[in-house]
Amino acid sequence: MEYSPGLRGVIAGETKISTVGMEGTSLRYRGYDAIKLTETHTYEDAASLIISDDLDGSEFTNNFIKYYGELTNDKDINKLFVEIKSRLHPMDVIRTVVSYIGDSDKNSDLESTTKILAAVSYVIASYNDNDTSELDQEYTVASSMLSNKVSTDELQALDDILILYAEHGFNASTFATRVTASTRSDLTSSIVSGIGTLKGELHGGANERAVELINSFKDINDAETGVLKMLKEKKKIMGFGHGVYKIQDPRSPVVKRWVEKLVSDDDSKLRFEIAKKIDEIMDKEKKLFPNVDFYGGLLLSELDFDVNLFTPIFVAGRSVGWAAHYFEQREDDTLIRPAAKYIGVEERD
Ligand SMILES: CC(C)(COP(=O)(O)OP(=O)(O)OC[C@H]1O[C@@H](n2cnc3c(N)ncnc32)[C@H](O)[C@@H]1OP(=O)(O)O)[C@@H](O)C(=O)NCCC(=O)NCCS
Repeated sequence: MEYSPGLRGVIAGETKISTVGMEGTSLRYRGYDAIKLTETHTYEDAASLIISDDLDGSEFTNNFIKYYGELTNDKDINKLFVEIKSRLHPMDVIRTVVSYIGDSDKNSDLESTTKILAAVSYVIASYNDNDTSELDQEYTVASSMLSNKVSTDELQALDDILILYAEHGFNASTFATRVTASTRSDLTSSIVSGIGTLKGELHGGANERAVELINSFKDINDAETGVLKMLKEKKKIMGFGHGVYKIQDPRSPVVKRWVEKLVSDDDSKLRFEIAKKIDEIMDKEKKLFPNVDFYGGLLLSELDFDVNLFTPIFVAGRSVGWAAHYFEQREDDTLIRPAAKYIGVEERD
């Protein structure tokens, strides 16, 4: 049996949910171009497509509003928040709250998914000091995480990044979700596996690390010297490269355009210039391109989110992808159990 480190290039299952990098740089959700979906549809439509193969997101939206409302009045959840928020990273809070809401077999696929998404969004909103109680009719999920005072551009920008985060084939967190599902475990447990896996800096955590890097430079020259030094020391620059795309991450230009449109004050303009400089150096020195997380972190900063909420927002977007893969894996009903290449000592007595 041939061994492929990190399972690179290994086909580990079948899916009808998405294709990643099929025509070099494309991303399609159930056949639809994900980039075009950001121009024509909302996150709720894309989420409904991913879960139920239906581009009309109205049922998804209604369910989300219902569960979000229930959470607002749930005394137990709000008590749990107070106990854990002050000492845990928001990712750990989300993992705990999702565990806490548990799983109900009586719910439909759409209901179970929206209930989990409502819990994730509710946790994110709870970190926002501004009032987030009014949900927008069109960009409902995005509005739950933003202040009521934001502009339509800001709502659309968050909606777009949620669409782009929604689904991405057999990436590490989705695969972890499918492994758990393959044991016939429940949806919540499977999604908790996904959350834990997304937290790592080589996956969802890259957006936090990318912004920290950009913020660590005082100007363009400082960035140039710093990044060249890091490359010389063989350090990885977070937010660059990709396990599947080899020419470009198609999600990155959409996110970069939003940053360009939203940058307002001198500080954010400078950070955008520094980011573009790092992008230029990575292309010149390593022929590496930015993935969704590089400008993604800057966009979320521009929307006034704290750095430690970046990966939770990724969780919110991706929860529908994880759920769709959970349902698909349960239908397939094959236990995922690969083999290992033994490299330990020979037999001994
Ligand atoms: C995403 C990632 C894990 C993909 O890995 P991969 O395609 O398997 O590529 P590898 O890690 O094997 O790297 C191949 C080469 O490119 C280099 N490389 C890859 N990503 C790099 C990065 N972000 N910064 C610097 N060098 C990088 C590696 O050091 C390696 O160089 P070498 O051949 O001289 O050893 C990798 O690009 C990475 O770690 N990126 C940073 C984390 C990140 O942004 N993650 C979010 C992904 S959406």
